[in-house]
Amino acid sequence: MALAIGLMSGTSCDGISAALVEFRGRHVRLIGFRTSTYPESLAQLLRHARELAVPHAAQLHVLLGELFAKAARDLLRLRRTPARRVTVIGSHGHTVYHGPRDPIPCTLQLGEPAIIAERTGIPVVADFRPRDLAVGGEGAPLIPFFDRWRFGTGAPRALQNIGGIANVTIVGRRLRPIAFDTGPGNCLLDMAAQRLTRGKQRFDRHGAMAQRGQVDLAIVRRMWTHPYFRRPPPKSTGPEVFNESFLRSVFGQRWVSRRADVVATVTYFTAYSIAESYRRFVPVRLSEVIVSGGGVFNRTLMNHLKRLLDPLPVRSIVRYGLHPQAKEPAAFALLALRAIRHQPNHFPSTTGASHARILGNLTPA
Ligand SMILES: Nc1ncnc2c1ncn2[C@@H]1O[C@H](COP(=O)(O)OP(=O)(O)OP(=O)(O)O)[C@@H](O)[C@H]1O
Ligand SMILES: [Mg+2]
Repeated sequence: MALAIGLMSGTSCDGISAALVEFRGRHVRLIGFRTSTYPESLAQLLRHARELAVPHAAQLHVLLGELFAKAARDLLRLRRTPARRVTVIGSHGHTVYHGPRDPIPCTLQLGEPAIIAERTGIPVVADFRPRDLAVGGEGAPLIPFFDRWRFGTGAPRALQNIGGIANVTIVGRRLRPIAFDTGPGNCLLDMAAQRLTRGKQRFDRHGAMAQRGQVDLAIVRRMWTHPYFRRPPPKSTGPEVFNESFLRSVFGQRWVSRRADVVATVTYFTAYSIAESYRRFVPVRLSEVIVSGGGVFNRTLMNHLKRLLDPLPVRSIVRYGLHPQAKEPAAFALLALRAIRHQPNHFPSTTGASHARILGNLTPA
């Protein structure tokens, strides 16, 4: 038995998700989970972190390290667990740049592990992605390793995460995992909700605004013509593709019309692009779709997805004992545990790496 903590800050810049996880053989049990929401000023800074001058980026690296450490300590206090019982912290950090196809392939996650180790007294494994890049991989996706480890024993299933970007892993017995980004997750939705409420709402809580609006199918079709959706997997995307200019280009004049209609259309499209991507690119018959990520809380989005995939069962990962936003941090807890045990912790078939390696750099306690 081993306890590990996973820390994650995703593309939505909503906050730090921290999970305290118990691993027993192949079993995983979520002992505690907590999201530490970023203040709006920091969320804004993170969204534009790429533009920071080096001294400011270096400071942000340390500041995030402090916040990650605090997230871990708060979680331990909440669960009344002494730090010495925790074997390792797996910290993904916050991605400020990911350029696996640049002339010099590179990726950068901030959140100084030295600070996390110092403040918690727990060894930290961080910087998972660069080693995958070093063997020719994309440095992503890394979560399929967890998906396969936890859910890969039965009939083929889809593990669909709806974070900022939506990504899927297909796993099953004797099936080589297939993983790709289906397209936008909450990123377009959040953008529409923020712009149209002049920043009053960071996201469309429970999908209430979308529920009130009318879906414009002509715009849905226009969005679906984006070349990303025709590219076969493996493939990944990000907010540099699905952003406000994308929305403005497809909505044209209608961008400023009834805001509930805009949010309704974007919400429907998010579900549509997931369901249609399965039709286009998933070569096996699925038995179930298990959804994770903050998108699970958007009822309108989940209802669209259920209807579009009917009769395939679409279920929240809560049914399997994980909080929707805990899967990713739990996955980095597993990857860290594997790393300190000198066991490979990624699938070259999903990242494009030439060899299996042990990802992550260790900072001792
Ligand atoms: N109650 C809610 N109702 C509707 N949407 C919600 C709710 N809670 C969270 N969300 C959505 O979930 C998003 C955050 O999800 P999550 O933390 O899984 O994404 P992320 O941090 O971007 O991670 P990733 O790296 O996987 O993209 C929010 O930006 C918001 O859009
Ligand atoms: Mg998040």
